[in-house]
Amino acid sequence: MTHPSSVPSPSQPTVGGPGIYLDHAATSPVCREAVDAVLGGMSITGNPSSRHEAGDEAKDALESSRTQMAALLDCAADDVVFTGGGSEADALAVCGTVLAADGHRPVHVITSAIEHSAVLESCAMAHELGAEITILRPDGRGWIDPEDVRRALRPNTVLVSVMHANNETGVIQPISDIAAVVHEAGALLHTDAVQTAGKISLAGLGADLVSVSAHKFYGPKGVGALKVAPGVRLSPLIRGGSQERGLRAGTENVPGVLGMAAAAAAALHHLDDPAHQAHRHTVRAHLLKGLEEAGDIAVNGEGAPCLPETLNVSFTGVRGDTLVDVLAVHGICVSAGSACHAGSDEPSHVLTAMGIPAQRARSAVRFSPGRTTTVDAVTTAAARTVDAIGKLRALGPAGAPQPSHA
Ligand SMILES: Cc1ncc(COP(=O)(O)O)c(C=O)c1O
Repeated sequence: MTHPSSVPSPSQPTVGGPGIYLDHAATSPVCREAVDAVLGGMSITGNPSSRHEAGDEAKDALESSRTQMAALLDCAADDVVFTGGGSEADALAVCGTVLAADGHRPVHVITSAIEHSAVLESCAMAHELGAEITILRPDGRGWIDPEDVRRALRPNTVLVSVMHANNETGVIQPISDIAAVVHEAGALLHTDAVQTAGKISLAGLGADLVSVSAHKFYGPKGVGALKVAPGVRLSPLIRGGSQERGLRAGTENVPGVLGMAAAAAAALHHLDDPAHQAHRHTVRAHLLKGLEEAGDIAVNGEGAPCLPETLNVSFTGVRGDTLVDVLAVHGICVSAGSACHAGSDEPSHVLTAMGIPAQRARSAVRFSPGRTTTVDAVTTAAARTVDAIGKLRALGPAGAPQPSHA
């Protein structure tokens, strides 16, 4: 198979244009394996639901992708439901559980204040559907205590939704401990593993529902999956067809699913590579060391278990969004908070929930290196950041975040 010249090599995914891309928590470049698989999928003619040879070809491709995704999700192939991305997987998990719950009403759902808005808004929708919602606060490190989950459980709790790792801070939650507490009470656990899939193992989490999204692990955008453990009852949100065991109507995105599965297989390969594992930590250490040169910085989430790929730092006296814009001009791609809320003046709901004052939250920037980020790249990025901070601080209060009156 041939590729357009801009297609990255397997080991060297790149982003369009020059610069240093440290925004992998927002999205990752598509790896060569995924590009190959998507291109192959584009030449599959049939509809997986059709009862002829062309349909069989599409169905076979879909089912072998399901098996590959099951390896990532640590479940049986039959437990994998393909979705249009992480947000849809989250919505199906939360609202689908609430809609399917029978017996005592109203049902109760527990989530946390640091969830991605895909989960928080799904909980808001579940509330509109009649569910009671409890939102747990994390500690100052952004960590959810399983004992807080235990205290919040009620006889009518049907679902607890706590993310595996946070998209802004990278803090990893104690999902298997939370699963034990939730199952003791007879409820289900959903975890949004969008930020962890392909970076750390999803084996042994114990969650009944697990969301992942291909574009965070070097697959295409707009495709994801939800693990639905055997016996879990869900109502479909998208109706009108029996695809995906009746849980998600609509002709499957065959090229997208093939690309996601290929990216998952490549990610699993990296998970088993000790050299890659060591590299992730080395890159973070160099990045942090370089940023410390700016002086007067605070690492948000410090002290909690954390993904090495996500480093959230507040720089005193500097607005995070201003710094992001200045760095963009210098070819450094980073985010202030989550990419989904870029442009908003509200301090991050995640950092605010951690008890971080608004002024410090507004000075936060997220650096998220990826699989092929080199030590040289983060050293250069840190040096340019320190330089930019020096200039912004010299401007005085004009470039600084103002105290919040909110
Ligand atoms: C933790 C988390 N959940 C869900 C999503 C949404 O995923 P998608 O962009 O595939 O809808 C994201 C994307 O940023 C995320 O970081």
